[in-house]
Amino acid sequence: MQIAMLSTLILLGIFLLVSLYIITKTLKERLIPNPHLPPGSLGWPLIGETLNYLGTCLAGRPDWFLRDRMEKHDPQVFKTSLFGETLAVFCGPAGNKFLFSNENKLVNLWWPRSVKKLLKSSLVNVAGDEAKRIRRILLTFLDPDALKRYIERMDLVTQHHISTLWEGKEEVKVHPTVNLYTFELSCRLFISIDDPLHISKLAHHFDVFLKGVIHFPINIPGTRFYRASKAADAIKEELRLISRRRRAALDMKMASPTQDLLSHLLVTSDASGKFLSETEIVDNILLLLFASHDTTTSVITCVMKYLAELPEVYQTVLREQIDIAKSKEPGELLKWEDIQKMRYSWNVVSEILRLMPPVRGAFREAIVDFTYAGYTIPKGWKVYWSPMTTSKDPTLFPNAEQFDASRYDGAGPAPYSYVPFGGGPRICLGKEYARPQILVFLHNIVKRFKWDLLIPDEKVPYDPMPAPSQGLPIRLRPSA
Ligand code: HEM
Repeated sequence: MQIAMLSTLILLGIFLLVSLYIITKTLKERLIPNPHLPPGSLGWPLIGETLNYLGTCLAGRPDWFLRDRMEKHDPQVFKTSLFGETLAVFCGPAGNKFLFSNENKLVNLWWPRSVKKLLKSSLVNVAGDEAKRIRRILLTFLDPDALKRYIERMDLVTQHHISTLWEGKEEVKVHPTVNLYTFELSCRLFISIDDPLHISKLAHHFDVFLKGVIHFPINIPGTRFYRASKAADAIKEELRLISRRRRAALDMKMASPTQDLLSHLLVTSDASGKFLSETEIVDNILLLLFASHDTTTSVITCVMKYLAELPEVYQTVLREQIDIAKSKEPGELLKWEDIQKMRYSWNVVSEILRLMPPVRGAFREAIVDFTYAGYTIPKGWKVYWSPMTTSKDPTLFPNAEQFDASRYDGAGPAPYSYVPFGGGPRICLGKEYARPQILVFLHNIVKRFKWDLLIPDEKVPYDPMPAPSQGLPIRLRPSA
């Protein structure tokens, strides 16, 4: 009882202090208008324009928030206040280009404090040369050369998943089922965990972690962040044990240095011969689990929704996948070369990434005062870019609201206008990995099934990534 009261008092105290800080900051910004700052509204004290923003996210259209302000204030850059932070939102291809080209010069990557705390020794907490060093080590597992080794295993895991959770069912809820698939695939490819019980124990901790990783970083019992931090501790402890066992197995030549991400991180050094520490390995594996999970789950779910709504697109994807299947011996697994043949299917995924990008945007922090589009961006300000300031712009994408997979034929979209994976030195590290992950699933699912949506106009709010409000229940039929 006393502990509960104490926790409440501490929470209240922290809330008051944070409120006071934000009110003072925003009042200063409101009362001393600076004509050189980008135009825009800071909304209400404390909450800024967060509610307007969340409203458009719930409607599945965060782009409305952005485009509305681009029209009202300035199409190049505007200011707003979201989640207690004053932000300059850089817009359009020029804004994207500016930010992606000025990493480590004018801006650095910035993530909310909760993410930094839970992934302390990972890539998201470092900048400059240290970020380059860690990215290089991680990339040698995620780049096409390395990925070639893992396509057959992806196919095997996907076939097993479909035969256990889809085959023989009349109805399936796509989002939660795909959620299990992406986590299982990561467990197998990153740390070679195959035991379903072990995977579901980790999945439980991981769910709690995901719910609090982007939240107010108040670490007292009862808060989401507290639970997430306990879950992160449990996952890290497990990863530490697995890592120690693997190191011993590698020393005794009883494990392969290329068997998965973990082995790769244990045996790979940087250019100076320095290896990652155990804490860095554990935190970076957790980062990759985090960064790869909801993103691909959301994309695969949206692909399933669009394919049900667009039967002619489904038929063209099916034809492409059947041709690939026919070119193989019975039982032969997919290879890297097969993924390269899935051109139309990838165009379909690319179009869905344009219409419903899973990542709404990312943050930077100004490391010096600088000028953009005639406005001053003060040192310390948070800067935001979003794939959505360009993705629905009809001058860049004619009939922008329409699905059209042919946009990616030939030269494709104009530079810096199509950026679902970001750009520049901090471009998504899993861009190449996400492609086979999504396409291998698509290959296996269309080969077996057609499907109908059980809720035809199901809403797809962003929370924080697009996820159908009822989980996208579908009725399955054999594809041929
Ligand atoms: C379709 C799926 C995915 C999309 C759309 C996506 C998109 C993004 C975006 C927009 C960023 C932020 C870039 C920035 O800060 O400017 C990012 C960062 C990142 N992504 Fe992805 N991602 C996807 C899948 C993955 C996967 C599968 C992995 C890992 C296997 C991954 C690992 C990462 C990492 C580690 C970062 C941080 C990179 C850094 O800070 O240097 N992502 N992703």
